[in-house]
Amino acid sequence: MDDIYISRALERVAMIEQQHVDNLAEKIRDLGGHPTKLGDVLAPVLGQVLGKATAAAGPERLLWLDIQLEEKAMKDYKDFLVKAGGEKEMFNILWNNLIDEDLHTAWFTNKLRELKEIGLIH
Ligand SMILES: [Fe+2]
Repeated sequence: MDDIYISRALERVAMIEQQHVDNLAEKIRDLGGHPTKLGDVLAPVLGQVLGKATAAAGPERLLWLDIQLEEKAMKDYKDFLVKAGGEKEMFNILWNNLIDEDLHTAWFTNKLRELKEIGLIH
């Protein structure tokens, strides 16, 4: 991927995903739980996957993949939210993460549309 704007946006998104996982892991530890299980669920989201896929995939495939991953993450956060009900701080973390994923999805979707409009992809 030689589009510097997309590359940097993906790097930034991957950092945010890592913060999501870290914030949740910390909260789970505070509550006496074991964050490794959560990491198994959320770690695949972006970060590593994209770091490796980015170079090989064209922008259309890449952005499409990003959108699929974000939608999976949003589904997971919604499921967690239903279960987190009473714990206010956990509830807030999950909501914040969910909204971040929605914003990422909007950016990816918009970038995909933009690339189509200028004829870089079809
Ligand atoms: Fe995201």
